[in-house]
Amino acid sequence: MNKLDMQGRSAVVTGGASGIGEATIRRMAESGANVAIWDMNEEAMANIAGSIKGVKTHTCKVDVSKLDQVEAAFKSTVDAFGKVDALVNSAGVAGVNAMVWEYPADEWQRVMDVCLNGTFYTCRTATPHMMENGYGRIVNISSVAGKEGNPTASAYSAAKAGVIALTRSLGKELATKGVLVNAVTPTTVNTPILAQVSQQHIDYMKSKIPMGRLGEAEELAAMITWLCTEECSFSTAAVFDASGGRTTY
Ligand SMILES: NC(=O)c1ccc[n+]([C@@H]2O[C@H](COP(=O)([O-])OP(=O)(O)OC[C@H]3O[C@@H](n4cnc5c(N)ncnc54)[C@H](O)[C@@H]3O)[C@@H](O)[C@H]2O)c1
Repeated sequence: MNKLDMQGRSAVVTGGASGIGEATIRRMAESGANVAIWDMNEEAMANIAGSIKGVKTHTCKVDVSKLDQVEAAFKSTVDAFGKVDALVNSAGVAGVNAMVWEYPADEWQRVMDVCLNGTFYTCRTATPHMMENGYGRIVNISSVAGKEGNPTASAYSAAKAGVIALTRSLGKELATKGVLVNAVTPTTVNTPILAQVSQQHIDYMKSKIPMGRLGEAEELAAMITWLCTEECSFSTAAVFDASGGRTTY
């Protein structure tokens, strides 16, 4: 494992209690950062925070689809760490699998609220603080679904396409402020989120990966953590692929 330098930095990871978010929390802590886990799963957050040594940890029970909860969590994190240097938006839900003409409207709204609006709320809340500090790194977890559109996953695909567009807009708005904003587009990664989708859908997604295997959360965490280091200095409003060769654009 390469050594990444986040010494003295403080990071927030939404969805940090599971999967890609948890792996990112652990990689950032190993890289020297104080880490704030934002999630709805209190028990998992407490277990993860309790297992991390050598850096400060902070946990916030927050539903990212509620702006007031996001603002309160941000204040409590700044109170705990003094500053926030990095924000990773990993909280997400897959939504049910159904054709567009049968897609439940309330489920569509839920997926939009968590995946797209939640990312907007955290970015909106964190950027004034980062601009004032003249430093920040934001990484939004999108998906290959947001580039390609997966059948039976229209809400997820549309929300993740929105995350890419939000990243491109915000990255350009902040390009001269020391705050870099990038997105990552994983293909199917071996995490608990897969329990939310049908086996048929997982098989479809795996069949499209040239490497012939699913990704691992630690592989994503490595890319995300590097994107949150100071060494990532000339990339913003960009989309980084992690798809085993599926989406090479
Ligand atoms: N695993 C994959 O195949 C894959 C592929 C592409 C993109 N992604 C994206 O990566 C991100 C992480 O996914 P994962 O695979 O680690 O999933 P996961 O289910 O393992 O973790 C998601 C975490 O988000 C939390 N969460 C859900 N709704 C929330 C809310 N409203 N507020 C706060 N926290 C909330 C959950 O409690 C959970 O801890 C998601 O945005 C997902 O869409 C995953």
